[in-house]
Amino acid sequence: MTLNFLQVPVIAVDGPTASGKGTVAQRVAGLLGFSYLDSGALYRLVALAALQQGVAPDDVGRLAALAAGLKLRFAGDRVFLDDQDVSAALRQESVGNMASAVAVFPAVRAALTERQRASRVAPGLVADGRDMGTVIFPDADLKIFLTASVQKRAERRCKQLIEKGFPANIAILSKDLQERDARDAARSVAPLVAAADAVVIDSSDLGIDAVVDQILERARRAGMGARGGV
Ligand code: DC
Repeated sequence: MTLNFLQVPVIAVDGPTASGKGTVAQRVAGLLGFSYLDSGALYRLVALAALQQGVAPDDVGRLAALAAGLKLRFAGDRVFLDDQDVSAALRQESVGNMASAVAVFPAVRAALTERQRASRVAPGLVADGRDMGTVIFPDADLKIFLTASVQKRAERRCKQLIEKGFPANIAILSKDLQERDARDAARSVAPLVAAADAVVIDSSDLGIDAVVDQILERARRAGMGARGGV
């Protein structure tokens, strides 16, 4: 059976930085046989391109042009920008912080909207970000808002960065996370906020598997198991 675009099921996983969204969303997508959208990577790519080309964080016109013209390619867990493998560079905190700064501009967000919606392909999509359930896929079949305490998120991000060979300091990370959350939540367009119909999961004291199980259970209840093959 061919599904039209709006019949393709979507699970939106939103939440603050370092809440575990990426790991959880990828795991759920893999188990359901769905595609995975890392929308944060798009904002990070704009940020990285801006840093590489010396574009100022308030030069909206050039930032929007960069967003509209991104030549990117995803291959498994690798990300290529202009055929250059930028997977590691994208994960740097400086790039994440710049991404949060460029993401406040409506013109930048608008330039990335269609690219995100185009990833809605059968048999289904798990989309991870800040506004998946509120703006990009407001009709998502299941909306999850994944959060965790600042302390836990700073610890997780610290571990992640050290594993990737980047320097990390928990006190600085904790301050940066709070500043980033405040900026993401305060912006006037597509702020970081749980959709009214989202299921809020606090993962402070839950492991990845427990969160994944909760989401799969809700996906089954929303009728996604049958279509997704689980
Ligand atoms: O999920 P992440 O940490 O890779 O995202 C980096 C930044 O990009 C985040 O601080 C805010 C922005 N972002 C956004 O505004 N909307 C999204 N859907 C995803 C990310």
